[in-house]
Amino acid sequence: MTDASLVVTDLRVEFSGFVAVGGVSFDAHPGEVRFLIGPNGAGKTTCIDAITGLTKGTGSARLGEKELLGRQVHKIVRLGVGRTFQTASVFDELTVLQNLDIAAGRHRPAISLLRARRGVDPAIERALEETGLAGELTTPAGILSHGQKQWLEIAMLLVQDAKVLLLDEPVAGMSQDERTATGELLQRIAAKRIVLVVEHDMDFMRRYATRVTVLHQGRVLSQGTVAEVQADPRVQEVYLGTADAMTEG
Ligand SMILES: Nc1ncnc2c1ncn2[C@@H]1O[C@H](COP(=O)(O)OP(=O)(O)OP(=O)(O)O)[C@@H](O)[C@H]1O
Ligand SMILES: [Mg+2]
Repeated sequence: MTDASLVVTDLRVEFSGFVAVGGVSFDAHPGEVRFLIGPNGAGKTTCIDAITGLTKGTGSARLGEKELLGRQVHKIVRLGVGRTFQTASVFDELTVLQNLDIAAGRHRPAISLLRARRGVDPAIERALEETGLAGELTTPAGILSHGQKQWLEIAMLLVQDAKVLLLDEPVAGMSQDERTATGELLQRIAAKRIVLVVEHDMDFMRRYATRVTVLHQGRVLSQGTVAEVQADPRVQEVYLGTADAMTEG
């Protein structure tokens, strides 16, 4: 839970001379489902990498009073900044509960299914309820559906009490029902946390975004409400030919 905002100012990332992110500014506040969209290679993931310390960036990314750029990855995590990756990064051979234990920094020995439930701490219990995974406590993560794996990753961030959730294409590969469930989950989570969603799925964006930043070739092309961004001719031009992505649908 947080009152602070994430404020990114003139963020730049270069890879041996190639400008992947060329001066990007945006902010995200608790209470909104903030979207970052843009074509392949626009620099979306690189922005998240820089904010989370995986990639060196210049400029500024502040969470409240705290500058994130220049800090080590684990210190940024400790400030409450969590992220997911484009490909799920849960431990397939461990159960849902064991994955959440690890996220919570607990080490639970391999114990029986019956004993598992008794030892569940309240933060894990809440995250399970919130993400709809309460019935999957003892399921090995590897046999969860694609959607459930993404929810497990989100649950892991909730267990860590992340103040900021940076989600890289959370609904890619999901069924329509899973998308709807994810959108509603993000709306609930965003009430008290900062949620920034990187997505390609324009239909999903239209349904759940409060504000949108459109990146193109490492720069902000457009920024505003869904309606404002959709009406922007520059955005329509960039998305032209990509399955009528920006037209009302
Ligand atoms: N480690 C790296 N070294 C060199 N170039 C990189 C590196 N990481 C990303 N890039 C380049 O930076 C640009 C932005 O990549 P990025 O992954 O941020 O795009 P993206 O918007 O997330 O795209 P996608 O929608 O395909 O995930 C791309 O041209 C990419 O090839
Ligand atoms: Mg990406």
